[in-house]
Amino acid sequence: MTNKIRKAVFPAAGLGTRFLPATKASPKEMLPLVDKPLIQVSVEEAVASGIESILIVTGREKAPIENHFDISFELEQLLKERKKDELFDMVRGISEITRISYTRQKQALGLGHAILQASDFTPNEAFAVLLADDVVDSEVPAMKQLIDVYEKYGDPVVATMQVEGPAISRFGVIDAEEVEPNVFRVRDMVEKPAFEEAPSDLAIIGRYILTPDIFPAIENTKKGAGGEIQITDAMRDLLEERPLYAVKLEGTRHDAGDKLGFLIATVEFALKRDDLGNEFREYLRSLDLS
Ligand code: G1P
Repeated sequence: MTNKIRKAVFPAAGLGTRFLPATKASPKEMLPLVDKPLIQVSVEEAVASGIESILIVTGREKAPIENHFDISFELEQLLKERKKDELFDMVRGISEITRISYTRQKQALGLGHAILQASDFTPNEAFAVLLADDVVDSEVPAMKQLIDVYEKYGDPVVATMQVEGPAISRFGVIDAEEVEPNVFRVRDMVEKPAFEEAPSDLAIIGRYILTPDIFPAIENTKKGAGGEIQITDAMRDLLEERPLYAVKLEGTRHDAGDKLGFLIATVEFALKRDDLGNEFREYLRSLDLS
């Protein structure tokens, strides 16, 4: 079994109920951070982390994701005719980003069940999982931070960040022991605990490195929090058989699948843009926020 993480899985079949009505007929993964769809932001993160092949787990109403990463013949033709070379290169570049395949999760039965759809894609080697609505703005790409830990320990890795107060119950939460700065060995984990029952303030963020033994573990996992088959529960079972690590991410995480989180991420990304940042900053300063 190769030790290199070459493959990544993107669960993208969720119904996006937190972002209705925008997500009624369009995938939440296509919501743009300024002008770039969330799914492209995280695919670029994967590629920057060394990933060579991607599986996107889609569902009904998700065709725009496939179209986005395909060649857009008419648009390219038009941009060529109008000599818009830069735009042409950008549009063509998206379809050449890396190898992407698709499979359907026929029912939205939970994150664990979505990941199970990747068992034929990566039956024998460890793989990355990225949740596109967790946007991590960091110096070193978030997935690369996990891969570095995987290459050292050879066991599954989850991303974690500290979350203060009752908001912790919106996450999977780990109980863990720090083995080197920002790297933890996980003792236990629980999906969306009540605030009083959370074992720590270390929340699981949507980046994982998993090994193929997760697939039988998912198959044996019963419905958990929210009546869904949870990846946290499957990893918890696996903990009885092998170590599992967590890496505290350097960077800022935005929940772009949530309306407020999305607004914050949009403002932060817009302010950093060379072409928009200054004007946008001036506009924000001019607002009367009293
Ligand atoms: C999922 C995971 C949860 C994790 C979270 C990170 O939950 O089940 O463990 O903390 O992503 O965003 P979801 O937000 O899909 O309910």
